[in-house]
Amino acid sequence: MLREKLLGALSNQVNAEYYSAYLYLAMSASADQMGLKGIANWLFIQAQEEMAHGTRIYQYILERGAAPAFAAIDLPPTSFADVPEMFGMVLEHEQKVTQSINNIATIAMQESDHACYQFMMWFVNEQVEEEASATDILDKLRFIGENKGMLLALDNELGARVFVDPFPAQ
Ligand code: FEO
Repeated sequence: MLREKLLGALSNQVNAEYYSAYLYLAMSASADQMGLKGIANWLFIQAQEEMAHGTRIYQYILERGAAPAFAAIDLPPTSFADVPEMFGMVLEHEQKVTQSINNIATIAMQESDHACYQFMMWFVNEQVEEEASATDILDKLRFIGENKGMLLALDNELGARVFVDPFPAQ
């Protein structure tokens, strides 16, 4: 059985993952409005991944015989000045998510819940990738600056991303 503190932290994380999805959908819609369909695609797939993360944690809570606590999902920002601002926010947001994932792993460790600690390791590793890919895109955007041709090339590159279910056997 999950201890109360861990259940609370996991429930909050379900909410945070769905908030992330909502945030990336808002960014995707904004990129679409800017005519940057490839960037919109990348962000849409990012949102799908976040929903998969949230759903996996939700399922895990049930597997452990508990019920998640539900709370309202916050309204994300819905207007963005430009693409660099968006990806700056993606990186900042993922850094916050990393802290909250690490915090759950720490609680699991303190409570000697080895199963939950082990479960959280997937998310710990995933956050390394999440931060790396946001940093990579942000670096490219800084290099691109005001060059619209290069921005379109990046748009094309990000348009190639396809959704891969991170938990195919679930
Ligand atoms: Fe599910 Fe982007 O962390």
